[in-house]
Amino acid sequence: MSDQPLLVTCGLPYTNGPCHIGHLRTYVPADFYVRYMRRCGERVVFVCGSDNHGTPIVVSAEMEGISPREMSQRYHDHFDRTFKRMQVCFDHFGMTDDPTNHDRTRQIVSSLIGNGYVYSQVVKQSYCTRCRRFLPDRYVEGICPHCGTPARGDECDQGCGRHLEPGEIQEPTCKVCGTKAEFRDQEHYFFRLSDFRDFLLEYLPGLKGTLNARNYALGWVKDELHDWCITRTLEWGVKFPGRDDLVVYVWVDAPIGYISFTEEWAKITGNDWKEFWCGENRITHFIGGDIIYHHCIFWPALLKGAGYGLPHAVVASGMVKVDDHKFSKSRGYVVWTNEDYLDRGLSPDYLRYYLLSYTNHTKELNFSWTVFQERVNNELVNTLGNFIYRSLYFANKEFSGIPDDPVDALVLEEVKCALAAVDSAMREYEFKNAIDAMMGLAAFGNNYIQSNAPWKLVKTDRDQARKVIKNCLFLVRALALLFEPVIPEKSQKVWEALGYTDQAGSHLLRDATDPLLGGAIPVPAPLFEKLEDGLIAELDLLLQKRVKEAGAPPAPKMEEISIEDFCRMDIRIGKILKAEPIPKSKKLLRLIVDLGQEKRQIVSGIAQFYTPEDLVGQQVAVLANLAPATIFGVESRGMILAAGDTASLLVPLTVVEPGTKIR
Ligand code: MSP
Ligand code: ZN
Repeated sequence: MSDQPLLVTCGLPYTNGPCHIGHLRTYVPADFYVRYMRRCGERVVFVCGSDNHGTPIVVSAEMEGISPREMSQRYHDHFDRTFKRMQVCFDHFGMTDDPTNHDRTRQIVSSLIGNGYVYSQVVKQSYCTRCRRFLPDRYVEGICPHCGTPARGDECDQGCGRHLEPGEIQEPTCKVCGTKAEFRDQEHYFFRLSDFRDFLLEYLPGLKGTLNARNYALGWVKDELHDWCITRTLEWGVKFPGRDDLVVYVWVDAPIGYISFTEEWAKITGNDWKEFWCGENRITHFIGGDIIYHHCIFWPALLKGAGYGLPHAVVASGMVKVDDHKFSKSRGYVVWTNEDYLDRGLSPDYLRYYLLSYTNHTKELNFSWTVFQERVNNELVNTLGNFIYRSLYFANKEFSGIPDDPVDALVLEEVKCALAAVDSAMREYEFKNAIDAMMGLAAFGNNYIQSNAPWKLVKTDRDQARKVIKNCLFLVRALALLFEPVIPEKSQKVWEALGYTDQAGSHLLRDATDPLLGGAIPVPAPLFEKLEDGLIAELDLLLQKRVKEAGAPPAPKMEEISIEDFCRMDIRIGKILKAEPIPKSKKLLRLIVDLGQEKRQIVSGIAQFYTPEDLVGQQVAVLANLAPATIFGVESRGMILAAGDTASLLVPLTVVEPGTKIR
């Protein structure tokens, strides 16, 4: 144990949509860890808050016709309530748009400027001539310059996952109106992240937490570090010092929220926030694997540059997926925490247990209702629940409570071993292993009661049966204490079933090895109810239906055009005379197309869907007056028209003369 208090934070949820179970993989493990460390006697402060700034929130608010603040307040309250329902109990849950965070952010940015870590530069920025505004981040959609996948302004979210700097995205269009955006010059401010390379190379190897966080970050730092553009042309956000027309990038003021929320908590409780943020500390950030870069590279550099203490540990989870798909509201791959789970009266503890014990914390977790059911029924209900219920039932029926006998040394030893195994796993953030060790103790209990069969023994040797039951109850108490950080509601019920009237969570774990005093216990009721097949089938069906109904994402809104605009396109039917692959390209074919009056060479990206033999002789629609381009060193004059992701070719219903115009 350390004198220094532990500060635990969680990645802040954005306030533009409801809580899904992917989010929970940040909050539930953090809450588990906090509860556990408290049960070890540590002083722990647990803060979080909502992340209110950034373009997606402005876009969502605009689409609903409310202000970004209203939008933020709505989802802030939603997350606050949801976390409480999930038994995730923060000491403080703030908002990044509150004054404390505006002030702290401006103070930190001013320090960075004062310390010479910020410079201004004129950059090309996407601008929508129709909406008459600059288009930051997610106001723009286009093509990733690195991998060619459709991307959003600040991140290649569907492809290579790279962070995109303003101006990098290709073929930018306005997300609001679909107009092709143009690039215009604008002055922005940059953080000299590249200056922090040596610092990070020294700092990162000592960073505690999970290995994925440290190793990814080290890899990126060794690779290359770009300076970060830290301003955006938005109204909504923290004003950049000295510039009323710019706000700081959301990834500046969001992590600073960790400091501000500590300040707010300290003010309410009469503590000193500097104890946590200036100098030596034990700050531990819980996040998802998608935001390691921000927490292990950008954030420590920012703190260092502004003269603050540095994070002690970063604990990064693997991502939660559904049916092997990334969470996506628009594609239907999502399980909502309230609507799909809590509102149906399902126990928060079951979901906590599943998320914590299913796989190692840094591994991906592919959510499935049937696996959820299996784990809950086999482990919580059959192993843990059964043992506890049988022990309590028998104790109550035969001895009206906890017998006075001493506990076997062997049983005491088993409890001590479990405590030690859980502890070493927890110190390594191996949450699954910790729970496996707890479940191991429950399995030991089950074996013990089964092989001693006190229900038989009581008929021949009542004294011995009583001793067996005492041992069982000793194990039950240890399980209630050990499992409290995992399944707090159920553990409290077990605790009360042992006749206690206080909170299981107010005890230290080491109390599990104290003598268990004799006393009365109430008539027990089963504590863990099975998840029925019908319910699981219903939930599974709902998920499948959602994915099916989401279908294709909605077509982008396009600007209306006149018939004259259409007539400017020369679309004709052509006949493919020749088709051959282009060396070194998997996607491209070189085609020779007969357009009646002339033959054209056209490069077409359809090689993944057609062989050259499929194509020769085929009639296709061709955009004939497209400006020539050289692709992979081959000149292309025109474009073959095809539909959708599988490049289904548009062909005339009946054979027509090559060169026939499409009108
Ligand atoms: N606002 C940022 C975090 C700023 S921290 C200074 C953000 N918000 S979020 O709402 O998208 O996510 C909140 C937390 O949930 C983050 O820790 C994030 O990593 C985590 N997760 C969100 N979706 C997730 C999955 N599908 N799977 C696992 N964790 C995920 O990121
Ligand atoms: Zn626009």
